[in-house]
Amino acid sequence: MLGRLNHIAIAVPDIKVAAKTYRDVLGAHVTEPTDIPEHGVKVVFVELPNTKIELLEPLDRESPIQGFLDKNISGGMHHICYEVENIIEARDRLKAEGARVLGSGEPKIGAHGKPVLFLHPKDFAGTLIELEQA
Ligand code: CO
Repeated sequence: MLGRLNHIAIAVPDIKVAAKTYRDVLGAHVTEPTDIPEHGVKVVFVELPNTKIELLEPLDRESPIQGFLDKNISGGMHHICYEVENIIEARDRLKAEGARVLGSGEPKIGAHGKPVLFLHPKDFAGTLIELEQA
């Protein structure tokens, strides 16, 4: 069911500082920040030869990543995104296996304009998983 690793997301308290670190210290190509109000985050992509790193900053206190940053004040790895061919089939299979799909269970449009779902970290070795229809 799982396809390629699409990205790893890191929650950060200050996306300008984090983007500058990736660009100037690590020498990576970094995109301009974009607001994604549907997900409550500002995002920057670090483009690597084989995948992307998504830097996320909360847009406000109501952001779904704010609680994570309250516990990890200097930031930290937030989720891993895997590609699937068909997100509805993947969701139904996971639910049948007893995995918990977060939110309403209906895919939302993610940072790349494609449908995404999130899976409960307690069902997956303590890691929040995002599935994106490739
Ligand atoms: Co993501």
